[in-house]
Formats: sequence, C-alpha cells, structure tokens
Amino acid sequence: MAGEMSMIGSVILALLLAGYLGQQYLPPPKPRVIGLDLGTTFCSVGVFQPGTGEIEIIEDDKGRKSIPSVVSFTLTGVFAGHEGQELSDVNPQNTIYDAKRFIGKIFDEETLEKESARYPFKVIFNNGSADFLVNTNSTFTVTPEFIGSRLLLKMRKMAEKQLGVPVEKAVISVPAEFDERQRNYTIRAANLAGLDVLRVINEPTAAAMAYGLHKAEVFNVLVVDLGGGTLDVSLLNKQGGMFLTRAMAGNNQLGGQDFTQRLLQYTTERVRQQYGVPPTLKEDIHLLRQAVEAAKLNLTQEPHVHLRVPLYLQMTGASGAQEEKVLFEEKLTRETFEELNADLFQKILAPIETVLVEGHLDKQEVDEIVLVGGSTRIPRIRQLISQYFGKEPNTSVDPDLAVVTGVAIQAGIMGGSWPLQVSAIEIPNRHLRKTNFS
Ligand SMILES: *[C@@H]1O[C@H](CO)[C@@H](O)[C@H](O)[C@H]1NC(C)=O
Ligand SMILES: *[C@@H]1O[C@H](CO)[C@@H](O)[C@H](O)[C@H]1NC(C)=O
Ligand SMILES: *[C@@H]1O[C@H](CO)[C@@H](O)[C@H](O)[C@H]1NC(C)=O
Ligand SMILES: *[C@@H]1O[C@H](CO)[C@@H](O)[C@H](O)[C@H]1NC(C)=O
Ligand SMILES: *[C@@H]1O[C@H](CO)[C@@H](O)[C@H](O)[C@H]1NC(C)=O
Repeated sequence: MAGEMSMIGSVILALLLAGYLGQQYLPPPKPRVIGLDLGTTFCSVGVFQPGTGEIEIIEDDKGRKSIPSVVSFTLTGVFAGHEGQELSDVNPQNTIYDAKRFIGKIFDEETLEKESARYPFKVIFNNGSADFLVNTNSTFTVTPEFIGSRLLLKMRKMAEKQLGVPVEKAVISVPAEFDERQRNYTIRAANLAGLDVLRVINEPTAAAMAYGLHKAEVFNVLVVDLGGGTLDVSLLNKQGGMFLTRAMAGNNQLGGQDFTQRLLQYTTERVRQQYGVPPTLKEDIHLLRQAVEAAKLNLTQEPHVHLRVPLYLQMTGASGAQEEKVLFEEKLTRETFEELNADLFQKILAPIETVLVEGHLDKQEVDEIVLVGGSTRIPRIRQLISQYFGKEPNTSVDPDLAVVTGVAIQAGIMGGSWPLQVSAIEIPNRHLRKTNFS
C-alpha cells in the first residue's frame, strides 16, 4: 500500500517535472489574435508574444512597420499598401485613399459631392453611402469597406508570414467618434479579409493602453492625436478597469499636411525672391514639396537644415521666354518653421479646452497626457501642451505606433495570454458628440 502510494507520488512528481521542463524548453505558443490599426493614412498590425510578454509590430519584407492606406486597381490586379501608393502617380483615377473617411457613413448627396471634390478618383453617391468608381478593363464600383478589406488582408498575410501560423482572429481599433454603423462596416471589412473580430476598441483607449495606463493608478487621461490631416482630442476617465470617453473634440482640417503647406509657400516665395520667378512646372513643385516634407521631419531633431533643389525656371530674357536650370539653396531654421505655423499650432489648444469644459475637469486634474500621431513629434507642439498642463506628456512610445501597440495588448488579452489578465473594457459612449473646430 505504502509502496503504491510512493509510486503514485513518483509519477505525479515526474509529471510535474515534465510539465516544468516542457514550459522551459518547448517553444512558446504563437499569438493567435492580431491587433489591427486601420488608419486614415497608414495601417499597422501587431501581436502580443505570449513567451516574452512583448509587443511585436509586424514589419513588411523591407522592415517597414506600417503600410499606406492606399489601394490601386490596374489591368493586372489589385495592389494595397506601398505597392498601391507607388501606382498613385501613374494611375491616380483608380488609386483609392482616405477610404476611412467614408466607411459606414451616411451622406446627403451635396455633402458627399463637396467632400469628394478634392480626390483624383470618383466618389459615387449610392443611396446615402459612398462608393468609388474604378475603371480598368471594365467599369465597376467598390465600397469603402472593400478598400479596408484589401488593406486588412495585406496585414493579415504579413502577420501569417512572420508568425508561420494561419490567423483568423483580430482586435481592431476605430476612432472614438465612430457610431455603431461605422463600427459595423469596419467589422465587415475585417470579415471580408477572412478575419473574425473579437473586439472593437477606441483608438484613444488603445493609445492609453500602450502606456500601461489600464494597469496604473490613473483616473483622467487626455489623448491628443495629431495626424497628417486631423486633430482628435479625447478625455478618458478610468473607473476600475474600465475606460469611459468623457468628451471628444477636434479639428478635421488641421494636421501635418498644413504645416508642410506653410513651409512650401514660404520656400516658393524664396525662389521668387532669388530668381524673380516662382517654380511653375508641376514636376518642380513636386520636387520642392518632397524636399520641404523631408526638411520638416529633420527640423524635429535639427535646429536647421539645408535645402538643395534643382529647378527648371521659366525666365523671360531678351529673346522671350526661356527655361533655365538652377540649383535652389536655402537654409531653413526650426524657428522659421515655428513662426510660419504659430497660429496653426495655437489652434491645438481650443479642442483641449473644450474637452476639459465638457468633461467638467480642471487641467490640474488630468493625470496623464498621451500624444499620438506623427505630428506630435514637433518639439514646439510638445512644448505648448506641456506648458498648458504644467507637466510633461507621455511620449516614450513611437506616436505612429501607440494605437497599434495598445490594440496588440488587447489582442493578447483576448487571446488569453499570460500574464495579462486585466482587460480594458470600454463603456460605450452612445450620447457623446464630437465638437469640431474647422
Ligand atoms: C479584369 O481585371 C481583373 C483584375 O483587376 C481580373 O481579375 C479580371 O479577370 C479582368 N476581367 C476581364 C473581363 O478581363
Ligand atoms: C436606400 O436606403 C434606405 C435606408 O437606408 C433603404 O430603406 C432602401 O431600401 C435603400 N434603397 C435601395 C434601392 O437600396
Ligand atoms: C450593427 O451590427 C449589429 C450586430 O450585427 C446589429 O445588431 C446592429 O443593428 C447593427 N447596427 C447598425 C447601426 O448597423
Ligand atoms: C535630413 O536628414 C537625413 C538623414 O539624417 C539626410 O540624409 C537629409 O539630407 C536631411 N535633409 C535635409 C533637407 O537636410
Ligand atoms: C507616462 O506613463 C507612465 C505610466 O505607464 C507613468 O509612470 C509616467 O510617469 C508617465 N509620464 C511621463 C512624463 O512619462
């Protein structure tokens, strides 16, 4: 009897030991749920690695952590991401971007016509919804959710290639202001890409999670998201493990593109001052814009940069109009950039003040400030925000990847990965309206 007991004991011991060794030496389980950020201009996909507890943002074969939200239709196929973007110059009418601005949204015909005037592709009014007209070997329409699905499919494939397992489940983020219909159509986009959506999470909540704020002792979090073309400010309130959006405001006509535009106007004027004529060739303006865009990025880190752009200027000489090749050179300082944009930067504070008023909160009561979106790298913008609150914002996570990082954490939670158990549950904000300044 005693012998039997000790034998059972040994067996149990051996099983425990095997389990322990297994845990030590077996490869960790693969993530089964991916986190998707379907952005207006860029998309990213990330996973929570159960083995290390780290977030991995999936790279493409060239090491890039996000893909442009662009889908191009040609005679030979449908191209999403960088491949789609590369076709935008030669195939502008069939290269669709900004589809997120249309997904699941109900329009009246006049508003849609106004909104679509700035695009090189055709937007069609279809009984309240927007469709895109594509003309390749035949003429057909595609829906915004179909465009979304091609981007999500691309990211699903990137994830499958990296992880080496099939992926069928996802968590996806949407703007806090999205209504139920817009959320449903985003889910439909994921379904079209063969993905089952386990949860839809608000972008500002995801950004707060990227900083671990779902686990920290904080109550009021302000998220400032300044992208290429829009500013979104959200005031979140955390009660227990739950995030509630208290107020939203923004400006859907303010972003990095506007800052670049100011710099472009300034350099165009400098060309005119130096040579007597502004650049007029489309190709020259394109080159100048690219140089100015690069300079803007450099000025985030450098106090000044040197622009050098070869231009063909249309001079009028003694013998009439003639083209002259010049090398335009100019020193641009960060100070100039800040002066050119001072009024635009100042506009960032209005929606911040609005969410505080609507949320009945004093600025001293904001526990953490989270910055999202590439334009929040601009030093002057960080300074304005920290001066306003009298404290430093949270900036340690790459502002372009904060949302996808948070979505990947949520995906890890949904996938049941140890050691994360706390889930950020969101209280739906049914009666909340976003205040827009623009
Ligand atoms: C038209 O082009 C698409 C690819 O964009 C292709 O799948 C389809 O078969 C083509 N249709 C015809 C009729 O050639
Ligand atoms: C147009 O939309 C309305 C309301 O969304 C719907 O009831 C109607 O069936 C739609 N008509 C067509 C032709 O799809
Ligand atoms: C969204 O989808 C849910 C579940 O499929 C459905 O019950 C609801 O009516 C939909 N809402 C809208 C506004 O489309
Ligand atoms: C910006 O920085 C990059 C890398 O540091 C450099 O290659 C490029 O020439 C710089 N551009 C300007 C306009 O100074
Ligand atoms: C950022 O967030 C963390 C919480 O994860 C907090 O401990 C830290 O103090 C915050 N603030 C700054 C300025 O980094």
